[in-house]
Amino acid sequence: MARLAAVILAAGEGTRMKSSLPKVLHPVGGVPMVLWSVQSARELGADPIVLVVGTGAQAVQETVGDQALYAFQAERLGTGHATLQARELLQGRADVVLVLYGDMPNLRTETLLHLFALHQERKPAITLLSVKADDSMGFGRVVRDEAGRVREIVEEAVATPEIMALKELNCGVYCFDADWLWANLPQVPVTQPKGEYYLTDTVGLAIKGNQPVEVLTITDVTEVQGINTRVHLARSERILRERILERLMLEGVTVIDPASTYVETTVRVGRDTVIQPDTYLQGKTVIGERCTIGPNSLVRDTRIGDDCQVPFSVLEEAVVENRVHIGPFAHLRKGAHLGDGVHMGNFGEVKNSYLAPGAKMGHFSYVGDAQVGAHANIGAGTVTCNYDGLQKHPTVIQEGAFIGSGAMLVAPVTIGKGAKIGAGAVVTHDVPDGMLAYGVPARCRRRLADETKAHEEE
Ligand code: UD1
Ligand code: CA
Repeated sequence: MARLAAVILAAGEGTRMKSSLPKVLHPVGGVPMVLWSVQSARELGADPIVLVVGTGAQAVQETVGDQALYAFQAERLGTGHATLQARELLQGRADVVLVLYGDMPNLRTETLLHLFALHQERKPAITLLSVKADDSMGFGRVVRDEAGRVREIVEEAVATPEIMALKELNCGVYCFDADWLWANLPQVPVTQPKGEYYLTDTVGLAIKGNQPVEVLTITDVTEVQGINTRVHLARSERILRERILERLMLEGVTVIDPASTYVETTVRVGRDTVIQPDTYLQGKTVIGERCTIGPNSLVRDTRIGDDCQVPFSVLEEAVVENRVHIGPFAHLRKGAHLGDGVHMGNFGEVKNSYLAPGAKMGHFSYVGDAQVGAHANIGAGTVTCNYDGLQKHPTVIQEGAFIGSGAMLVAPVTIGKGAKIGAGAVVTHDVPDGMLAYGVPARCRRRLADETKAHEEE
């Protein structure tokens, strides 16, 4: 097995993004775009991976961290010059060098695998990736002879009308024989008017030196449309999104309206689940079978079991077991855990709390830092008053307790098994099992004005 290394070119200025954030750090599918290239290279087993950085180098290094080594290109002197910056780090450490860009997040890993496989099979000096397309997108043209053998790549800036008319484009992605590359890359001449060293000129050099060049041709141009502007960024996002949704649909998930459904690549969804329009599934979210999520829901880093309903709601860092109904207009925050068959109705919020199986919380309630027992019923407008302005305190509502509407449970407080709390109660002490408690204990003690006076007199 050949030792593979990768060079990811990412030193471009990205001026057309009109951004203070380096271009390759703009997210696509929720992650900085350069990480798509790094991830693909890793999946191919490339080691090391060298990122060629320029503008914004520090921010890029902070994001990518030790997944790559870094070569700094101080001046933008072209793709050939950029690749040469990686020589010191790679010479003698790899047999094959994969070159790709940091701004091509839609390139499929499988395409790179095919390119690398072809390269290993034929062992030429260069295996390049080309695409057949009617719109040239400003790409270099792949020029072949009568026998169909590749002769050279010609950039638009120096192309004749005949060459401009060619439909086979150079994608900018290559496998190089490492020894050949490092010996020949310094021979690439400078090209005017921009005074750049073109990596593409290695193809002409190989042909002149009687070294074979192989080509893998793809037809899906969306894979290699790079990102130069925010218009491209949105296009790239859409392409990625469509691919993710297609995968889900082929796995048995119904997506009612792909155009308004946003699922990140990390999300897993079970069979026969229906994703309704205007829904966002993000991060480490895992959803079971036969659920209906949305319309209008956002689910981030949350685990949802089977047969759940989540209309018009926001769920973040929560766990939801089976047959749970949430919403409309409910909010689960970090650490919310809803057991089997829990019903959480409209305008409810749960944070850092466990609701045991069968608990019900129908309307307008806040439950924070609480343990709620099985089949407890939390009436409309109940609030766990968990914060005294300095600290958070826990509330325990035991099995089968019935909390009347508008109750304020002033934590720390425990409501016993089967206890009943009257509507509007303000509960400041524990209520034992099976007891009924009601009323408002709050009394006026002293006027605030008197208190100030007393203070001044001291
Ligand atoms: C290059 C290819 C062209 C191909 C096209 C595909 C050359 C000369 N031409 O075009 O045949 O069709 O890609 O997109 O290679 N970069 C650096 N340092 C530099 C210059 C570029 O790191 O000095 C990086 C850029 O950040 C970018 C990548 O290299 O990620 C490609 O640069 P770009 O200017 O877009 O390539 P083109 O010359 O347009
Ligand atoms: Ca370009």
